Amino acid sequence: MADGTNAVGNLAKKLEGKGILLSSDVDNLLLEGIDIDLISGKLVEKYPNPESVQIVDATVIRGIVEELKIDKAPVPLEIKAKAGFRPAAAEVEARYSIGNGKQQNDGLRTEGSVSDFVAYFRSRLDKIKPFISTHSAASGMSPNLEAIRSYTNGREVTICGIVSNKITTKNGNIMALIEDETADAKVIFMNATSEKARSLFGLAGEIINDEVIAVKGRISGPFVIANELIFPNVPLRDRKTIDEDLAIAFVSDIHVGSKRFMEKNFSKMVEWLNGNADIGPKGLAGKVKYMVIAGDVADGIGVYPGQDRDLSILDVYMQYKRLAELLEDIPDYIQVFALPGNHDAVQAAEPQPALGNDIMKDFKKDNIHFVPNPSYLTLHGIKVLAYHGTSLDSIISAVPGMSYAAPEKAMVETLKRRHLSPIYGGNIIVPSRNDTLVIDTIPDILHMGHLHKNGITNYHGVDVVNSGTWQARTDYQIKLGHMPTPCVMPVYDAKKGSYVNIDFNG
Ligand SMILES: [Fe+2]
Repeated sequence: MADGTNAVGNLAKKLEGKGILLSSDVDNLLLEGIDIDLISGKLVEKYPNPESVQIVDATVIRGIVEELKIDKAPVPLEIKAKAGFRPAAAEVEARYSIGNGKQQNDGLRTEGSVSDFVAYFRSRLDKIKPFISTHSAASGMSPNLEAIRSYTNGREVTICGIVSNKITTKNGNIMALIEDETADAKVIFMNATSEKARSLFGLAGEIINDEVIAVKGRISGPFVIANELIFPNVPLRDRKTIDEDLAIAFVSDIHVGSKRFMEKNFSKMVEWLNGNADIGPKGLAGKVKYMVIAGDVADGIGVYPGQDRDLSILDVYMQYKRLAELLEDIPDYIQVFALPGNHDAVQAAEPQPALGNDIMKDFKKDNIHFVPNPSYLTLHGIKVLAYHGTSLDSIISAVPGMSYAAPEKAMVETLKRRHLSPIYGGNIIVPSRNDTLVIDTIPDILHMGHLHKNGITNYHGVDVVNSGTWQARTDYQIKLGHMPTPCVMPVYDAKKGSYVNIDFNG
Protein backbone atom coordinates (compact mmCIF):
# COMPACT_ATOMS: atom_id res chain seq x y z
CA MET A 1 0.00 0.00 0.00
CA ALA A 2 1.28 3.44 -0.86
CA ASP A 3 1.77 5.49 2.28
CA GLY A 4 2.69 8.49 0.16
CA THR A 5 6.28 8.68 1.45
CA ASN A 6 8.04 6.54 -1.15
CA ALA A 7 5.20 5.30 -3.30
CA VAL A 8 7.01 6.13 -6.57
CA GLY A 9 10.08 4.17 -5.46
CA ASN A 10 7.95 1.20 -4.46
CA LEU A 11 6.07 1.23 -7.75
CA ALA A 12 9.33 1.52 -9.74
CA LYS A 13 10.63 -1.51 -7.86
CA LYS A 14 7.52 -3.53 -8.73
CA LEU A 15 7.99 -2.63 -12.39
CA GLU A 16 11.67 -3.60 -12.54
CA GLY A 17 12.44 -5.88 -15.47
CA LYS A 18 9.00 -5.39 -16.98
CA GLY A 19 9.99 -2.75 -19.49
CA ILE A 20 7.92 -0.04 -17.79
CA LEU A 21 9.58 3.18 -16.60
CA LEU A 22 7.96 5.98 -14.66
CA SER A 23 8.18 9.53 -16.01
CA SER A 24 9.41 12.26 -13.66
CA ASP A 25 5.91 13.81 -13.37
CA VAL A 26 4.65 10.74 -11.49
CA ASP A 27 4.88 11.81 -7.87
CA ASN A 28 4.06 10.37 -4.46
CA LEU A 29 0.96 12.52 -4.12
CA LEU A 30 -0.59 10.97 -7.21
CA LEU A 31 -0.14 7.49 -5.73
CA GLU A 32 -1.21 8.28 -2.17
CA GLY A 33 -3.70 5.77 -0.83
CA ILE A 34 -3.53 3.58 -3.94
CA ASP A 35 -2.64 -0.09 -3.74
CA ILE A 36 0.77 -0.38 -5.46
CA ASP A 37 0.18 -4.04 -6.35
CA LEU A 38 -3.10 -3.17 -8.05
CA ILE A 39 -1.59 -0.33 -10.07
CA SER A 40 1.52 -2.27 -11.12
CA GLY A 41 -0.76 -5.17 -12.14
CA LYS A 42 -2.80 -2.84 -14.32
CA LEU A 43 0.35 -1.40 -15.92
CA VAL A 44 1.71 -4.84 -16.74
CA GLU A 45 -1.68 -5.76 -18.20
CA LYS A 46 -1.57 -2.63 -20.34
CA TYR A 47 2.08 -2.99 -21.42
CA PRO A 48 2.76 -6.73 -21.37
CA ASN A 49 5.94 -6.73 -23.47
CA PRO A 50 9.07 -6.37 -21.30
CA GLU A 51 11.22 -6.14 -24.44
CA SER A 52 9.87 -2.77 -25.58
CA VAL A 53 10.52 -0.04 -23.03
CA GLN A 54 7.48 2.05 -22.19
CA ILE A 55 7.62 5.38 -20.33
CA VAL A 56 4.50 5.98 -18.32
CA ASP A 57 3.54 9.53 -17.35
CA ALA A 58 1.14 11.05 -14.79
CA THR A 59 -1.78 11.13 -17.27
CA VAL A 60 -1.61 7.35 -17.76
CA ILE A 61 -1.36 6.77 -14.00
CA ARG A 62 -4.29 9.10 -13.35
CA GLY A 63 -6.36 7.13 -15.89
CA ILE A 64 -5.56 3.85 -14.14
CA VAL A 65 -6.41 5.33 -10.74
CA GLU A 66 -9.82 6.35 -12.11
CA GLU A 67 -10.27 2.91 -13.64
CA LEU A 68 -9.53 1.30 -10.28
CA LYS A 69 -12.19 3.46 -8.65
CA ILE A 70 -14.89 1.97 -10.83
CA ASP A 71 -13.28 -1.41 -11.04
CA LYS A 72 -15.93 -4.07 -10.76
CA ALA A 73 -15.35 -6.34 -7.85
CA PRO A 74 -15.99 -9.94 -8.85
CA VAL A 75 -19.66 -10.82 -8.64
CA PRO A 76 -20.26 -13.24 -5.78
CA LEU A 77 -21.37 -16.71 -6.68
CA GLU A 78 -25.11 -17.15 -6.64
CA ILE A 79 -26.31 -18.95 -3.53
CA LYS A 80 -29.13 -21.44 -3.93
CA ALA A 81 -31.25 -22.92 -1.16
CA LYS A 82 -30.28 -26.44 -0.15
CA ALA A 83 -32.41 -29.09 -1.81
CA GLY A 84 -35.06 -30.27 0.61
CA PHE A 85 -34.69 -27.18 2.85
CA ARG A 86 -38.19 -26.56 4.24
CA PRO A 87 -37.98 -23.31 6.19
CA ALA A 88 -40.83 -22.80 8.66
CA ALA A 89 -40.61 -19.03 8.10
CA ALA A 90 -41.54 -19.48 4.41
CA GLU A 91 -44.94 -20.82 5.44
CA VAL A 92 -45.85 -17.77 7.53
CA GLU A 93 -46.93 -14.49 5.99
CA ALA A 94 -44.83 -11.50 7.07
CA ARG A 95 -46.49 -9.03 9.41
CA TYR A 96 -44.51 -5.86 9.86
CA SER A 97 -44.77 -2.10 10.02
CA ILE A 98 -42.08 0.53 9.79
CA GLY A 99 -41.88 3.62 11.97
CA ASN A 100 -44.21 5.47 14.24
CA GLY A 101 -43.62 8.95 12.92
CA LYS A 102 -39.97 9.12 13.98
CA GLN A 103 -38.85 9.79 10.45
CA GLN A 104 -41.66 12.20 9.64
CA ASN A 105 -40.14 15.32 11.07
CA ASP A 106 -39.01 17.02 7.87
CA GLY A 107 -41.51 19.85 8.34
CA LEU A 108 -40.05 20.45 11.78
CA ARG A 109 -36.46 20.86 10.72
CA THR A 110 -34.73 24.06 11.75
CA GLU A 111 -31.78 26.15 10.65
CA GLY A 112 -29.87 25.73 13.90
CA SER A 113 -30.42 29.27 15.28
CA VAL A 114 -30.37 29.90 19.04
CA SER A 115 -34.17 29.87 19.24
CA ASP A 116 -34.17 26.54 17.36
CA PHE A 117 -31.91 25.02 20.00
CA VAL A 118 -34.19 26.37 22.71
CA ALA A 119 -37.17 24.77 20.93
CA TYR A 120 -35.25 21.50 20.55
CA PHE A 121 -34.41 21.23 24.24
CA ARG A 122 -37.92 22.31 25.22
CA SER A 123 -39.28 19.46 23.11
CA ARG A 124 -36.89 17.07 24.86
CA LEU A 125 -37.99 18.24 28.31
CA ASP A 126 -41.70 18.26 27.40
CA LYS A 127 -41.47 14.68 26.16
CA ILE A 128 -39.36 13.19 28.95
CA LYS A 129 -40.79 15.06 31.99
CA PRO A 130 -44.08 13.11 31.90
CA PHE A 131 -42.13 9.82 32.10
CA ILE A 132 -40.39 11.04 35.27
CA SER A 133 -43.60 12.34 36.82
CA THR A 134 -45.02 8.82 36.85
CA HIS A 135 -42.36 7.69 39.36
CA SER A 136 -43.72 7.58 42.89
CA ALA A 137 -40.47 9.19 44.07
CA ALA A 138 -41.28 12.22 41.93
CA SER A 139 -44.74 12.83 43.36
CA GLY A 140 -45.60 16.45 44.14
CA MET A 141 -43.24 17.73 41.45
CA SER A 142 -43.13 21.52 41.11
CA PRO A 143 -44.71 22.65 37.85
CA ASN A 144 -41.50 24.48 36.90
CA LEU A 145 -38.25 25.85 38.33
CA GLU A 146 -39.55 29.42 38.64
CA ALA A 147 -42.14 28.18 41.15
CA ILE A 148 -39.50 27.23 43.76
CA ARG A 149 -37.81 30.63 43.79
CA SER A 150 -40.12 32.02 46.44
CA TYR A 151 -39.83 28.95 48.68
CA THR A 152 -38.25 29.36 52.11
CA ASN A 153 -35.13 27.62 53.34
CA GLY A 154 -35.61 24.04 54.42
CA ARG A 155 -38.70 23.41 52.33
CA GLU A 156 -38.74 20.07 50.53
CA VAL A 157 -39.12 20.22 46.74
CA THR A 158 -39.17 17.89 43.75
CA ILE A 159 -37.93 19.50 40.56
CA CYS A 160 -37.24 18.44 36.99
CA GLY A 161 -35.06 19.97 34.30
CA ILE A 162 -32.35 19.50 31.70
CA VAL A 163 -28.79 19.31 32.95
CA SER A 164 -26.84 22.20 31.45
CA ASN A 165 -23.68 21.66 33.47
CA LYS A 166 -22.20 19.43 36.12
CA ILE A 167 -19.11 20.31 38.16
CA THR A 168 -17.29 19.14 41.26
CA THR A 169 -17.14 22.02 43.74
CA LYS A 170 -14.02 22.92 45.68
CA ASN A 171 -15.52 21.13 48.70
CA GLY A 172 -15.73 17.93 46.66
CA ASN A 173 -19.51 18.01 46.22
CA ILE A 174 -21.19 17.60 42.84
CA MET A 175 -23.22 20.53 41.59
CA ALA A 176 -25.63 20.08 38.68
CA LEU A 177 -27.20 23.08 37.05
CA ILE A 178 -30.63 22.16 35.71
CA GLU A 179 -32.87 24.32 33.56
CA ASP A 180 -36.36 24.52 32.20
CA GLU A 181 -38.13 27.18 30.14
CA THR A 182 -38.72 29.35 33.24
CA ALA A 183 -35.53 29.32 35.32
CA ASP A 184 -32.56 27.29 36.46
CA ALA A 185 -31.63 25.62 39.74
CA LYS A 186 -28.33 24.65 41.35
CA VAL A 187 -28.54 21.17 42.81
CA ILE A 188 -25.90 19.97 45.26
CA PHE A 189 -25.07 16.30 45.84
CA MET A 190 -23.08 16.19 49.07
CA ASN A 191 -19.89 14.21 49.30
CA ALA A 192 -20.84 12.98 52.78
CA THR A 193 -20.07 9.80 54.66
CA SER A 194 -23.43 8.16 55.41
CA GLU A 195 -24.26 5.14 53.31
CA LYS A 196 -27.26 6.87 51.71
CA ALA A 197 -25.19 9.95 50.87
CA ARG A 198 -22.42 7.80 49.35
CA SER A 199 -24.85 5.98 47.12
CA LEU A 200 -26.56 9.23 46.02
CA PHE A 201 -23.17 10.83 45.36
CA GLY A 202 -22.17 7.81 43.25
CA LEU A 203 -25.39 8.08 41.27
CA ALA A 204 -24.84 11.81 40.74
CA GLY A 205 -21.49 10.90 39.13
CA GLU A 206 -23.52 9.31 36.33
CA ILE A 207 -25.33 12.56 35.48
CA ILE A 208 -24.53 13.65 31.94
CA ASN A 209 -25.04 16.96 30.19
CA ASP A 210 -28.32 17.60 28.36
CA GLU A 211 -30.24 14.77 29.96
CA VAL A 212 -33.52 15.25 31.81
CA ILE A 213 -33.46 14.41 35.52
CA ALA A 214 -35.64 14.98 38.55
CA VAL A 215 -34.36 15.70 42.06
CA LYS A 216 -35.97 15.58 45.46
CA GLY A 217 -34.26 17.85 47.96
CA ARG A 218 -34.37 20.80 50.32
CA ILE A 219 -34.00 24.48 49.58
CA SER A 220 -30.85 25.90 51.14
CA GLY A 221 -30.17 29.48 50.11
CA PRO A 222 -29.53 29.54 46.36
CA PHE A 223 -29.19 25.73 46.26
CA VAL A 224 -31.29 22.61 46.37
CA ILE A 225 -29.56 20.00 48.53
CA ALA A 226 -30.50 16.69 46.89
CA ASN A 227 -31.61 13.63 48.79
CA GLU A 228 -32.91 11.66 45.80
CA LEU A 229 -32.04 11.57 42.09
CA ILE A 230 -34.59 10.22 39.63
CA PHE A 231 -33.77 9.19 36.05
CA PRO A 232 -36.63 8.82 33.54
CA ASN A 233 -35.94 5.07 33.12
CA VAL A 234 -38.21 2.37 31.72
CA PRO A 235 -40.75 0.52 33.87
CA LEU A 236 -40.37 -3.23 34.41
CA ARG A 237 -42.02 -5.40 31.79
CA ASP A 238 -42.03 -9.00 30.57
CA ARG A 239 -39.94 -10.11 27.62
CA LYS A 240 -42.05 -10.26 24.47
CA THR A 241 -42.52 -13.64 22.83
CA ILE A 242 -44.88 -14.75 20.05
CA ASP A 243 -46.84 -17.91 19.26
CA GLU A 244 -45.36 -18.39 15.79
CA ASP A 245 -42.09 -20.31 15.50
CA LEU A 246 -40.13 -17.43 13.97
CA ALA A 247 -36.80 -15.70 14.56
CA ILE A 248 -35.21 -12.31 14.01
CA ALA A 249 -31.56 -11.98 12.93
CA PHE A 250 -29.54 -8.92 13.91
CA VAL A 251 -26.71 -7.55 11.79
CA SER A 252 -24.75 -4.29 11.75
CA ASP A 253 -21.57 -2.66 10.48
CA ILE A 254 -21.09 -4.75 7.36
CA HIS A 255 -18.74 -2.14 5.85
CA VAL A 256 -18.91 -3.39 2.27
CA GLY A 257 -16.12 -1.72 0.30
CA SER A 258 -13.60 -1.93 3.14
CA LYS A 259 -10.57 -4.13 2.57
CA ARG A 260 -11.41 -5.62 5.95
CA PHE A 261 -14.99 -6.54 5.11
CA MET A 262 -15.13 -10.29 5.78
CA GLU A 263 -17.11 -11.15 2.69
CA LYS A 264 -16.57 -14.93 2.79
CA ASN A 265 -17.98 -15.09 6.31
CA PHE A 266 -20.90 -12.86 5.36
CA SER A 267 -21.68 -15.12 2.41
CA LYS A 268 -21.51 -18.09 4.76
CA MET A 269 -24.22 -16.41 6.84
CA VAL A 270 -26.36 -16.05 3.71
CA GLU A 271 -25.64 -19.72 2.94
CA TRP A 272 -26.81 -20.56 6.46
CA LEU A 273 -30.10 -18.72 5.85
CA ASN A 274 -30.49 -20.89 2.75
CA GLY A 275 -30.06 -24.07 4.75
CA ASN A 276 -26.55 -24.73 3.43
CA ALA A 277 -24.49 -24.44 6.61
CA ASP A 278 -24.75 -26.72 9.59
CA ILE A 279 -24.12 -24.13 12.31
CA GLY A 280 -26.05 -23.34 15.48
CA PRO A 281 -29.25 -24.95 16.76
CA LYS A 282 -30.98 -27.26 14.29
CA GLY A 283 -33.84 -25.63 12.44
CA LEU A 284 -33.07 -22.09 13.59
CA ALA A 285 -31.98 -20.86 10.13
CA GLY A 286 -35.37 -21.82 8.71
CA LYS A 287 -37.18 -19.83 11.40
CA VAL A 288 -35.57 -16.52 10.45
CA LYS A 289 -38.35 -14.33 9.11
CA TYR A 290 -36.82 -10.90 9.69
CA MET A 291 -33.36 -9.35 9.58
CA VAL A 292 -32.54 -5.93 10.98
CA ILE A 293 -29.31 -4.22 9.86
CA ALA A 294 -28.35 -1.36 12.19
CA GLY A 295 -26.21 0.79 9.91
CA ASP A 296 -22.75 1.09 8.37
CA VAL A 297 -23.91 -1.20 5.60
CA ALA A 298 -21.13 0.20 3.38
CA ASP A 299 -17.75 1.63 4.36
CA GLY A 300 -18.47 4.84 2.42
CA ILE A 301 -15.88 7.28 1.13
CA GLY A 302 -14.25 10.29 2.77
CA VAL A 303 -15.50 9.29 6.22
CA TYR A 304 -12.01 9.92 7.68
CA PRO A 305 -8.77 11.27 6.21
CA GLY A 306 -6.90 8.75 4.06
CA GLN A 307 -9.82 6.28 4.00
CA ASP A 308 -9.03 5.47 0.34
CA ARG A 309 -6.11 3.31 1.37
CA ASP A 310 -8.44 1.10 3.45
CA LEU A 311 -10.96 0.57 0.65
CA SER A 312 -11.23 -2.33 -1.76
CA ILE A 313 -14.05 -0.56 -3.63
CA LEU A 314 -13.29 3.12 -4.13
CA ASP A 315 -16.61 4.10 -5.69
CA VAL A 316 -19.42 4.50 -3.20
CA TYR A 317 -22.13 3.40 -5.65
CA MET A 318 -20.14 0.26 -6.38
CA GLN A 319 -20.01 -0.45 -2.65
CA TYR A 320 -23.82 -0.46 -2.48
CA LYS A 321 -24.06 -2.43 -5.71
CA ARG A 322 -21.91 -5.08 -4.11
CA LEU A 323 -24.11 -5.06 -1.02
CA ALA A 324 -27.15 -5.52 -3.28
CA GLU A 325 -25.48 -8.56 -4.87
CA LEU A 326 -24.77 -10.03 -1.45
CA LEU A 327 -28.26 -9.42 -0.04
CA GLU A 328 -29.91 -10.72 -3.21
CA ASP A 329 -29.34 -14.30 -2.08
CA ILE A 330 -31.18 -13.86 1.20
CA PRO A 331 -34.38 -15.91 0.78
CA ASP A 332 -37.36 -13.86 -0.46
CA TYR A 333 -39.55 -14.72 2.54
CA ILE A 334 -37.10 -12.96 4.90
CA GLN A 335 -37.89 -9.26 5.27
CA VAL A 336 -34.70 -7.23 5.64
CA PHE A 337 -34.65 -3.73 7.16
CA ALA A 338 -31.46 -1.69 6.73
CA LEU A 339 -30.80 1.67 8.30
CA PRO A 340 -27.81 3.91 7.65
CA GLY A 341 -24.91 4.60 10.01
CA ASN A 342 -22.18 7.22 10.17
CA HIS A 343 -20.29 5.53 7.29
CA ASP A 344 -23.24 5.45 4.89
CA ALA A 345 -23.98 7.78 2.00
CA VAL A 346 -26.61 9.98 3.67
CA GLN A 347 -26.40 13.08 5.89
CA ALA A 348 -24.37 12.47 9.03
CA ALA A 349 -26.75 14.43 11.28
CA GLU A 350 -29.27 12.32 13.15
CA PRO A 351 -32.03 11.40 12.68
CA GLN A 352 -30.71 10.18 9.32
CA PRO A 353 -33.09 9.58 6.43
CA ALA A 354 -33.16 6.20 4.69
CA LEU A 355 -30.58 5.59 1.94
CA GLY A 356 -31.66 7.39 -1.23
CA ASN A 357 -33.16 6.23 -4.51
CA ASP A 358 -29.82 6.59 -6.32
CA ILE A 359 -28.52 3.79 -4.14
CA MET A 360 -31.72 1.76 -3.91
CA LYS A 361 -31.87 1.35 -7.68
CA ASP A 362 -29.45 -1.57 -7.48
CA PHE A 363 -31.63 -3.38 -4.97
CA LYS A 364 -34.12 -5.17 -7.16
CA LYS A 365 -35.85 -7.33 -4.57
CA ASP A 366 -38.79 -6.04 -2.62
CA ASN A 367 -37.92 -7.86 0.62
CA ILE A 368 -35.11 -5.34 1.25
CA HIS A 369 -36.35 -2.18 2.95
CA PHE A 370 -34.27 0.93 3.57
CA VAL A 371 -35.41 2.73 6.70
CA PRO A 372 -34.26 5.85 8.59
CA ASN A 373 -31.87 5.88 11.55
CA PRO A 374 -33.40 5.46 14.08
CA SER A 375 -36.50 3.42 13.23
CA TYR A 376 -39.20 1.65 15.15
CA LEU A 377 -40.05 -1.65 13.44
CA THR A 378 -42.92 -3.86 14.50
CA LEU A 379 -42.14 -7.42 13.44
CA HIS A 380 -44.93 -9.88 14.14
CA GLY A 381 -45.95 -7.69 17.08
CA ILE A 382 -42.40 -7.36 18.45
CA LYS A 383 -41.32 -3.72 18.71
CA VAL A 384 -37.71 -3.29 17.67
CA LEU A 385 -36.06 0.10 18.10
CA ALA A 386 -33.10 0.08 15.75
CA TYR A 387 -30.45 2.82 15.98
CA HIS A 388 -26.91 2.80 14.63
CA GLY A 389 -25.42 3.77 17.99
CA THR A 390 -23.18 6.72 17.12
CA SER A 391 -23.97 8.27 20.52
CA LEU A 392 -22.41 5.32 22.35
CA ASP A 393 -18.94 6.89 22.02
CA SER A 394 -19.93 9.96 24.05
CA ILE A 395 -21.83 7.86 26.59
CA ILE A 396 -18.80 5.63 27.15
CA SER A 397 -16.55 8.62 27.72
CA ALA A 398 -19.00 10.45 30.04
CA VAL A 399 -20.51 7.75 32.25
CA PRO A 400 -18.28 6.02 34.83
CA GLY A 401 -17.97 2.25 34.40
CA MET A 402 -18.71 2.18 30.65
CA SER A 403 -16.33 0.59 28.15
CA TYR A 404 -16.02 -0.50 24.54
CA ALA A 405 -15.81 -4.07 25.80
CA ALA A 406 -19.44 -4.01 26.99
CA PRO A 407 -21.58 -2.15 24.42
CA GLU A 408 -24.80 -3.38 26.02
CA LYS A 409 -24.05 -1.40 29.20
CA ALA A 410 -23.78 1.87 27.27
CA MET A 411 -26.99 0.96 25.43
CA VAL A 412 -28.81 0.49 28.75
CA GLU A 413 -27.87 4.10 29.60
CA THR A 414 -29.99 5.27 26.66
CA LEU A 415 -32.99 3.43 28.13
CA LYS A 416 -32.38 4.98 31.58
CA ARG A 417 -32.24 8.42 29.97
CA ARG A 418 -35.14 7.64 27.59
CA HIS A 419 -33.00 9.19 24.85
CA LEU A 420 -30.93 7.58 22.08
CA SER A 421 -28.35 10.36 22.03
CA PRO A 422 -28.56 12.23 25.33
CA ILE A 423 -25.32 14.25 25.16
CA TYR A 424 -25.81 17.03 22.63
CA GLY A 425 -22.77 17.58 20.43
CA GLY A 426 -21.20 14.17 21.03
CA ASN A 427 -22.45 13.31 17.56
CA ILE A 428 -24.26 15.50 15.06
CA ILE A 429 -27.96 15.98 15.70
CA VAL A 430 -30.49 17.97 13.68
CA PRO A 431 -31.98 20.53 16.13
CA SER A 432 -35.55 19.83 15.11
CA ARG A 433 -38.54 21.32 16.93
CA ASN A 434 -39.46 17.75 17.71
CA ASP A 435 -36.76 15.74 19.46
CA THR A 436 -37.31 12.45 17.69
CA LEU A 437 -34.42 10.74 19.46
CA VAL A 438 -36.45 10.56 22.68
CA ILE A 439 -37.38 6.95 23.44
CA ASP A 440 -41.08 7.68 23.78
CA THR A 441 -42.28 4.17 22.95
CA ILE A 442 -40.54 1.49 24.99
CA PRO A 443 -39.35 -1.21 22.61
CA ASP A 444 -39.26 -4.95 23.23
CA ILE A 445 -35.81 -5.03 21.66
CA LEU A 446 -33.27 -2.19 21.46
CA HIS A 447 -30.82 -2.95 18.65
CA MET A 448 -27.62 -1.05 17.85
CA GLY A 449 -24.22 -1.55 16.24
CA HIS A 450 -21.39 0.98 15.80
CA LEU A 451 -19.03 -0.42 18.43
CA HIS A 452 -18.22 -3.58 16.38
CA LYS A 453 -18.59 -5.65 19.51
CA ASN A 454 -21.38 -8.11 20.32
CA GLY A 455 -23.26 -7.71 23.56
CA ILE A 456 -26.67 -8.82 24.82
CA THR A 457 -28.47 -8.11 28.04
CA ASN A 458 -32.00 -7.62 29.33
CA TYR A 459 -32.86 -4.40 31.12
CA HIS A 460 -36.23 -4.14 32.87
CA GLY A 461 -37.62 -6.62 30.33
CA VAL A 462 -36.19 -4.85 27.24
CA ASP A 463 -33.73 -6.96 25.29
CA VAL A 464 -30.62 -4.94 24.50
CA VAL A 465 -28.71 -6.29 21.51
CA ASN A 466 -25.51 -5.10 19.89
CA SER A 467 -24.87 -7.12 16.76
CA GLY A 468 -21.13 -6.49 16.32
CA THR A 469 -19.68 -6.29 12.83
CA TRP A 470 -18.57 -8.06 9.65
CA GLN A 471 -15.34 -6.08 9.43
CA ALA A 472 -12.01 -7.38 10.74
CA ARG A 473 -10.06 -5.32 13.26
CA THR A 474 -8.99 -2.00 11.76
CA ASP A 475 -5.73 -0.08 12.36
CA TYR A 476 -7.80 2.53 14.18
CA GLN A 477 -9.18 -0.11 16.53
CA ILE A 478 -5.70 -1.52 17.10
CA LYS A 479 -4.51 1.99 18.02
CA LEU A 480 -7.37 2.40 20.51
CA GLY A 481 -7.04 -1.14 21.86
CA HIS A 482 -10.57 -2.11 20.80
CA MET A 483 -11.24 -5.79 20.18
CA PRO A 484 -14.11 -6.28 17.72
CA THR A 485 -16.13 -9.50 17.49
CA PRO A 486 -16.66 -9.92 13.73
CA CYS A 487 -19.06 -12.36 12.08
CA VAL A 488 -21.13 -13.30 15.12
CA MET A 489 -24.84 -12.87 14.42
CA PRO A 490 -27.37 -12.74 17.27
CA VAL A 491 -30.66 -14.43 16.42
CA TYR A 492 -33.78 -14.06 18.57
CA ASP A 493 -35.93 -17.18 18.71
CA ALA A 494 -39.17 -15.25 19.22
CA LYS A 495 -41.24 -18.23 20.37
CA LYS A 496 -38.74 -19.48 22.93
CA GLY A 497 -37.76 -15.94 23.95
CA SER A 498 -34.04 -16.69 23.77
CA TYR A 499 -31.00 -15.50 21.84
CA VAL A 500 -28.33 -17.51 20.08
CA ASN A 501 -25.08 -16.00 18.81
CA ILE A 502 -24.29 -17.77 15.54
CA ASP A 503 -20.55 -17.71 14.90
CA PHE A 504 -19.55 -17.56 11.22
CA ASN A 505 -15.82 -17.38 11.86
CA GLY A 506 -15.13 -21.08 11.33
FE1 LIG B 1 -19.11 0.67 11.85
